[in-house]
Amino acid sequence: MTASKFILPIILFVLTLAAGFWVSKTGKPYNTGTFTLHKLLALAAVVFVTIAITDVLKTTHAQPLVIVLVVLAGLSVIALFGTGALMSIQKTVSSIWLFVHRVAPFLLAGSSISAILLLIKTV
Ligand code: HEM
Repeated sequence: MTASKFILPIILFVLTLAAGFWVSKTGKPYNTGTFTLHKLLALAAVVFVTIAITDVLKTTHAQPLVIVLVVLAGLSVIALFGTGALMSIQKTVSSIWLFVHRVAPFLLAGSSISAILLLIKTV
């Protein structure tokens, strides 16, 4: 079933969000354990959602809107990894990077969920 392919990435995404709030709460200098957990969960979520989407796209003729949404999700991931890396190397967290890092998860969730729903409906 197509929907079941997305359960693991969704769980990993929710855990990434929780770990992100945990990292924010403890603040700078970031706790190595929670920061590493946040990064690894984010990486795992991206890897598993990419596998699931590629898998579904192989057997489906995707609408152009799905492609646009997938590109939007990809750009959000780049923004999250970029701003995450910048916040971790800077001595103080710049409010602009934190702002982007707070907005991008909404964009990522919105675009991915819409793409997944459209893919599930097409299959
Ligand atoms: C799917 C990818 C990711 C998502 C959805 C995500 C989400 C979040 C969220 C929701 C927060 C809490 C922000 C707040 O206080 O309101 C956060 C914090 C943080 N994230 Fe991520 N994150 C992702 C990937 C990454 C990556 C790859 C890195 C590092 C390279 C990173 C580094 C950080 C840091 C350093 C903070 C703490 C910022 C602070 O000082 O308040 N994140 N993240």
